[in-house]
Amino acid sequence: MKDHLIVFDTTLRDGEQSPGASMTRDEKLRIARQLERMRVDVIEAGFPAASNGDFESVRAIAEAIRESTVCGLARANEADIRRAGEAIAPAVRGRIHTFIATSPIHMEMKLRMSPDQVVEQAVRAIGWAKEYTDDIEFSAEDAGRSEIDFLCRIFEAVIKAGAKTINVPDTVGYNVPEQYAQTIRTLIERVPGADKVVWSVHCHNDLGLAVANSLAAVMAGARQVECTLNGLGERAGNAALEELVMAVRTRQDVFPCDTRIDATQIVPASKLVSGVTGFPVQPNKAIVGANAFAHESGIHQDGVLKHRETYEIMRAEDVGWGANKLVLGKHSGRNAFRSRLQEIGIVVASEEHLNHAFARFKELADKKHEIFDEDIQALMSDEVVTPDQEHYRLVASRFHSETGETPRADLTLSVDGQETRTSAEGSGPVDAAFKAIEAIASSGTELLLYSVNAITTGTDAQGEVTVRLAREGKVVNGQGADTDIIVASAKAYLNALNKLHSKLERLNPQL
Ligand code: KIV
Ligand code: ZN
Repeated sequence: MKDHLIVFDTTLRDGEQSPGASMTRDEKLRIARQLERMRVDVIEAGFPAASNGDFESVRAIAEAIRESTVCGLARANEADIRRAGEAIAPAVRGRIHTFIATSPIHMEMKLRMSPDQVVEQAVRAIGWAKEYTDDIEFSAEDAGRSEIDFLCRIFEAVIKAGAKTINVPDTVGYNVPEQYAQTIRTLIERVPGADKVVWSVHCHNDLGLAVANSLAAVMAGARQVECTLNGLGERAGNAALEELVMAVRTRQDVFPCDTRIDATQIVPASKLVSGVTGFPVQPNKAIVGANAFAHESGIHQDGVLKHRETYEIMRAEDVGWGANKLVLGKHSGRNAFRSRLQEIGIVVASEEHLNHAFARFKELADKKHEIFDEDIQALMSDEVVTPDQEHYRLVASRFHSETGETPRADLTLSVDGQETRTSAEGSGPVDAAFKAIEAIASSGTELLLYSVNAITTGTDAQGEVTVRLAREGKVVNGQGADTDIIVASAKAYLNALNKLHSKLERLNPQL
């Protein structure tokens, strides 16, 4: 029997710490349901002390998820831990993940605490967490730059206090595989009680080594990998779930363990995260990139046709490619639409919300005969601002673009339910549409990113537009989808403004 490798997904916590990747409660719930469907063992649902919104999201996920453990992050202080404990209370299996920095630079410059004080605080933190759950994870932040003797000392203390999972983060992505593996091996050999806990790894990708470091640590005895979909995360991101899972699965001749992940859910999960955050997946990204299974050269194509394994080490369908089966069409009714939403993990807030989404589905089905899951996901991703949070809405649009003429946009917007017309000229129709919106909104935002992706194939495919806006240090992404990419652009811009309008202050746990 092989060991079980625990997959701990932190897309909703560390992933969300990427600038511009913040998600609403409904978006997080949709991703959590997809993670559960993928059979992730532990879902780190957020950092409840960051804001009331984060607390509510973790609590909603703890209420909804039945098959995976739901985890809340907390700094090693009483207030954070009590907040995390309350947020995970409804979970079938709830975990508190508490952390404190252990590297000399963090202890001295950030915490301004002595090593003795750090150990004492870590032990107290486990004590508070034990009032809520037995499933306690302890992380030594910046373990990758911490002294091994100090790590041994603090881990021994927290294991004695009751921690069940010990995480060794390479917080700044500084380690290289052999060194990181050696750290894990040494800890497992030297820390008293090491055999009673699960050793976990959490690697950042600053040097592009997050997956390699995690896998080296697995070979050295780690049995939990912390990761995110598409490698989303702070700065260069975290270790990518899809790469870890498929490396271990494909190389069962090498690894002494395996995960319980349903790999056919990987591509749908990747698309969902990319759609919700607006972070596109690069085409050559392993496993989930559009070209990951495409063979361009004649020699390769010929080889694959003769015998697939000449050039393929995994099958595209095993990770969920090609699963975008035709689901609904223009004759599909409201119930079929509702049940398809349920099947792909989308929960609508109310009947009113469902009616609104169904009306938009019908409009789409008139323009596009074949509606795939991806179309529905996209349609719902600009539905995420529920009608009562919808400050701005596009009611109607007319665009004029002709060779030799200045492009122009005429829009009718609903602003808090009041219809207003607005027009502007621009260097192109998208520019004109954004200027027309700004003539009403005067948002004072800066446009950081504008990107267009085709959701499915064919010239009748919907274009999905992502717009990233910044104002006073707050960054939001808006999505809009439509068969007309100018309309999709206007919707994405309005979606971002709506999010900015409703965005609450939140705290980054590591600042
Ligand atoms: O990178 C890190 O150290 C973290 C901890 C909070 C686990 O994300
Ligand atoms: Zn991290």
